[in-house]
Amino acid sequence: MASLAAFAVAAEPPRWAFPPPATAGSTRPAPDDGSALHVPDSTVALTKKQIAAHGSAIPDWHPADHPAMPDIVAKGREPQVFACGYCHLPTGGGRPENSSIAGLTPTYIKQQVLAFKNGDRPGSDPKRSPQTSMITVAKAVTEAEVAEAAAYFTTVKPATFIKVVEADTVPQTYVVGGIWAKVPGGSMEPIGNRIIEVPDELERFELRDSRTPYVAYVPTGSLKKGAELVTTGGGGKTLPCAICHGPDLKGLADIPRLAGRSPSYLMRQLYDLKNGARTGGNSVLMKATVVNLTEEDMLAIVAYLASRQP
Ligand code: HEC
Ligand code: HEC
Repeated sequence: MASLAAFAVAAEPPRWAFPPPATAGSTRPAPDDGSALHVPDSTVALTKKQIAAHGSAIPDWHPADHPAMPDIVAKGREPQVFACGYCHLPTGGGRPENSSIAGLTPTYIKQQVLAFKNGDRPGSDPKRSPQTSMITVAKAVTEAEVAEAAAYFTTVKPATFIKVVEADTVPQTYVVGGIWAKVPGGSMEPIGNRIIEVPDELERFELRDSRTPYVAYVPTGSLKKGAELVTTGGGGKTLPCAICHGPDLKGLADIPRLAGRSPSYLMRQLYDLKNGARTGGNSVLMKATVVNLTEEDMLAIVAYLASRQP
């Protein structure tokens, strides 16, 4: 019985990386008076309706931050192929609930879309709606459209707007739009074994501003522990990541960049790879890396990776 109980606990994915659909306080009133909205350092003005649009131009607050987008990235194809740039943003910088895909190679991008399509990336919480949305896109998109999107995203230079901060206490959080956000007027609480990745200003996240700043609070000591596991392999517990992911963890050939990516995203990948909820592509090459890692090891590793420059 004891081992069964242990299994039940282990089977629940860490909720800080796999947010539930909603928590208390998740419903936010969304008034729309049709007025023009703005974000800092942008001359663009958009209404709430334009920001929520699918099948027409996606919000693009900072056109100078990226090359001209092909239609599949900027508009998508109705009814099922939402524009890649809607979720991953025009810069490919992504958000905590999805993935930064800027600068990934076309081969890797194609392999991963195929993995979503073939059922190889259901994720450890197969009901998590950002994941099921990506799977819907992957099933409906054509090979030619993926090639166009991949040719675009590979040219965009990766950037990060995530600041990693060690802390013992963190703001109270609730779930909004698939991510954790600070409870307005909330107090502080112990961090525990979690990373709390939140936008500085929820409004900029909701306006889909590609320069939205985030703070990722990580437990005190996790950066040092993560650095050791990543650079040395922790005395045989895992493998030094740079062997395959490149000297600065910026990617090597078709092996993806790790530096400066969302710690929530990276955690989902390590957890999924270890638990068989991500296969396909060249994932077999990650097997030896994840097999002996505990959830705490993974947390420390992704804290460190997120703190590196992309
Ligand atoms: C509705 C939102 C949404 C749209 C639209 C979308 N994606 Fe995604 N995508 C996601 C999510 C969510 C993930 C991350 C899943 C996870 O956490 O494992 C993802 C992950 C990916 C990955 C994996 C990245 C990696 O490093 O392994 C690739 C590649 C990708 N998407 C490409 C695309 C392309 C190309 C398009 C347009 C044809 C697209 N996506 C449209 C939500 C979306
Ligand atoms: C033997 C080569 C190898 C080593 C060593 C290795 N990786 Fe990987 N890693 C890969 C490959 C190949 C992929 C792409 C998997 C796929 O195609 O699905 C990958 C993918 C990943 C991903 C998913 C990234 C994404 O874009 O979704 C993460 C996270 C990751 N590795 C973390 C690590 C960490 C952390 C280490 C060191 C502790 C490490 N890897 C060591 C080969 C390796």
